[in-house]
Amino acid sequence: MAGIDYVERIPNNVNLAENRRLQRALEDWQPKFLDWWRDMGPEGFQEKLVYLRTAYSVDPRGWAKFDYVRMPEYRWGVLLAPQMEGRKVNFGTHKGEPAWQEVPGEYRAMLRRLVVIQGDTEPASVEQQRYLGKTAPSLYDMRNLFQVNVEEGRHLWAMVYLLQKYFGTDGREEAEALLQRRSGDPDTPRMLGAFNEKTPDWLSFFMFTYFTDRDGKMQLEALAQSGFDPLSRTCRFMLTEEAHHMFVGETGVTRVVQRTCEAMKEAGITDPNEIEKVRKLGVIDLPTIQKKANLHFSLTLDLFGNEISTNAANAFHAGLKGRYREDRLKDDHQLESGTYPVLRLIGGKIQNEDSPALSALNMRLRDDYVVDCNAGVGRWNKVINEFGIPFEIKLPHVAFHRHIGEFTSIKADVNGNLLSDAEWGKRRGEFLPSESDRDFIESLMKPETEPAKFASWIAPPKVGIDNKPGEFEYVKIA
Ligand SMILES: [Fe+2]
Ligand SMILES: [Fe+2]
Repeated sequence: MAGIDYVERIPNNVNLAENRRLQRALEDWQPKFLDWWRDMGPEGFQEKLVYLRTAYSVDPRGWAKFDYVRMPEYRWGVLLAPQMEGRKVNFGTHKGEPAWQEVPGEYRAMLRRLVVIQGDTEPASVEQQRYLGKTAPSLYDMRNLFQVNVEEGRHLWAMVYLLQKYFGTDGREEAEALLQRRSGDPDTPRMLGAFNEKTPDWLSFFMFTYFTDRDGKMQLEALAQSGFDPLSRTCRFMLTEEAHHMFVGETGVTRVVQRTCEAMKEAGITDPNEIEKVRKLGVIDLPTIQKKANLHFSLTLDLFGNEISTNAANAFHAGLKGRYREDRLKDDHQLESGTYPVLRLIGGKIQNEDSPALSALNMRLRDDYVVDCNAGVGRWNKVINEFGIPFEIKLPHVAFHRHIGEFTSIKADVNGNLLSDAEWGKRRGEFLPSESDRDFIESLMKPETEPAKFASWIAPPKVGIDNKPGEFEYVKIA
């Protein structure tokens, strides 16, 4: 396995020094990336020392090294998982042919678009999260935020490497454009809806890393199957980093739930719907946590695109984007015949309809995603259960609050019952955070920067990062 060259200006395990043209192109892009990072990265903490992990190998058994780093000095690099000898295209019409080491000419535009869309999400989330450091509930959480941020920056590097190496002039232009769009900007927004939303508070951040980074995982899993080998190798290593982002989300929400339940127990409150009483304890009531989950889950479902999609069919047929864990599925991997049940709106009713499997790939990936989401939700409920509080967090119906696909034109409640516009207007606040819910959460967002201390609304983690003790100073603020 090629080691990572940290002597170079751009750390890499792709022998960058042997490709002068590419090296120059990336060295030309690097200061622009740093300008973007200083403008749009974590505000107010650029000069602080943060206890971050940096990848030093691509061996999944031990790839990270922890140390204090100032974020602009983080060693963003180009890291690909090792090449697998004799790897083949594993699905689609080219199934069985050797995996491509160069871009197949006929698929150039399609492949470039896949890389650009993935690439665009990476800096977007850094932009969305840039003010959160100022209200971090602990140094531990602050450090985790910054870790996620620098790694999203590295994921941008991963996609820009592919663009610069394999797509010539238009790849170079796309690499520049990735630094020019801005999350939420009305004139130059990011490409996908959920990446233009605000992440105004820490519960949003945990929900985002739980739900939206998990969409990232699903997309990376599908691209890791690609017959275009450099894309596959890039995504395989990105997935190693991505796991931490979802850990931050899952444990973040768990700790919020935990603290709420503890405070309720201490105060002798057994009814989770006594919202005002619970809020007086300085914790977030369970119904509001549910509403936040409803919001982030529904926004993230939109990222999977239309249930029935020719683009998805074409990308699969071409061997560019597979299904979730394609290599572990047992079928013909071509899907020219066969069907898949798609939840559709038929005659005013939500029902399954068998659709050609090739057209239903977005639906299928979304179904896999929902299964993956439910696992963590179960762990949140386990905490609530242990306290004997009669409340269960549930994912809303996939027809709820949608802006892309089959259910755009209707209004549904969290159970998938259709509502008239008037009913929706009246009941919206039951399902989604209201202005006053948001104000309440915001009122709790007071920074806690003393080591070992945590804001009132969140429990400490079970273990520290890199097994550090509770009082460890994850970010040197002073
Ligand atoms: Fe990412
Ligand atoms: Fe991520």
